[in-house]
Amino acid sequence: MSGRRPLVAGNWKMHGNRASSSALLSTLRSGVGAKAQAEIAVCPPYLYIPLAAETLKGSAIVWGGQNLDVHSSGAYTGEIAGAMLRDHGCTYVIVGHSERRALYGENDVLVAEKYAAAQAAGLIPILCVGETLTERESSQTENVVARQLDTVIEKNGIASFTKAVVAYEPVWAIGTGKTATPEQAQAVHAFIRAKLGKLDRNISGGVRILYGGSVKGSNAKELFSQPDIDGGLIGGASLQAEEFLTIIRAAD
Ligand code: PGA
Repeated sequence: MSGRRPLVAGNWKMHGNRASSSALLSTLRSGVGAKAQAEIAVCPPYLYIPLAAETLKGSAIVWGGQNLDVHSSGAYTGEIAGAMLRDHGCTYVIVGHSERRALYGENDVLVAEKYAAAQAAGLIPILCVGETLTERESSQTENVVARQLDTVIEKNGIASFTKAVVAYEPVWAIGTGKTATPEQAQAVHAFIRAKLGKLDRNISGGVRILYGGSVKGSNAKELFSQPDIDGGLIGGASLQAEEFLTIIRAAD
């Protein structure tokens, strides 16, 4: 991980209720203690963010959103602005998750705008990129990831990556139990870093690139030990306190 502080972020997606969220947050807080080598974040559904803020305040765990609107405020019924997430103490926000791209029609341009909106609000975007199974099988992985990154770079510039995190999440590995092998993941992570490095070597050397897609307690260590994997974005396993704590320890 060469000097980059690892980050383990939990993406709770649309799971849980007040009671289960509260229990999970408390268990994580006591399980992590006051200090952790790796940075740890949880991204609960919007409605449980105030609960996360209350429970995690003063702990080593930070919190974030799973999405935001591109606008800073206004007549956008049902949407949440970056400033509102900041107002609740969020550090991070996930942008361009494959579920948002596939199920809610978010294209590269919209994702680049959300990334900009996140940074304008003082949030650190966790920019998700990754190919589908068909794209991988037709050897399109690098083209797809490059295209997803290029739209963000064109709009926001390479310098914006000093305040961003990239998450490589092969769509075929999300929620499927099929993890990319450490070698497969490392190859794409190295590609991403080299691509950013063509524009600015310092920035590419500092940016954290997380792996996401069926990370578990049992495979985290091997993934995180790859030179260009700087932690993980964890879905299913972040809902189970013990499993998530095992993944955190793997990053430490
Ligand atoms: P998973 O999800 O860990 O359940 O595969 C990862 C993600 O969607 O961020």
